[in-house]
Amino acid sequence: MMKRNRGFRLGIALPLCWAAIAVAAEDGRQLAPLPAAAQAVLQAEMRDSLRALNGVLELLAADKVKEAGALAEKELGVSTMGRHRDKPFDARPGPHMPPAMHRIGIAGHEAASAFASAAAGSDRSKALAALPAVTANCVACHSAYRIR
Ligand code: HEC
Repeated sequence: MMKRNRGFRLGIALPLCWAAIAVAAEDGRQLAPLPAAAQAVLQAEMRDSLRALNGVLELLAADKVKEAGALAEKELGVSTMGRHRDKPFDARPGPHMPPAMHRIGIAGHEAASAFASAAAGSDRSKALAALPAVTANCVACHSAYRIR
């Protein structure tokens, strides 16, 4: 009876261990430990960023190049930096990020502003050429960091 029980437990425990190891091996991202409030602020900001990016693409597709640049600056550009300054410290994502992660965030805002400058002259191919640098920072940060 005892023997059978132990075998049964191993039969459950071993596959569970293998599953856990497989998940850990797949995900090499570094954990950035943010306070819960800062996590929520970051996640909301991220959803806004995706919405803004989609808006930029829609405007570009409609040949509204200057408007695409203006939206990028307003929602993603350098002018948005510091927008959480007045929140409680625990709700500000930036200061809790590892410095290298924070730098990717800043580079993303700078790339969005560079896109806005490129789009200001209404030249769509010039604007398009500056767009992958914006998404490259989304990709770089998401490949390297997680918050949970
Ligand atoms: C400085 C790092 C960084 C940059 C830059 C960044 N993100 Fe994120 N993003 C994160 C992290 C960290 C998460 C949370 C991942 C997790 O759940 O562990 C996240 C989550 C998200 C989510 C899911 C939000 C949710 O509700 O769970 C979306 C959507 C997103 N990002 C879009 C974007 C877009 C679009 C860009 C570029 C315009 C971008 N992000 C740039 C770090 C970043």
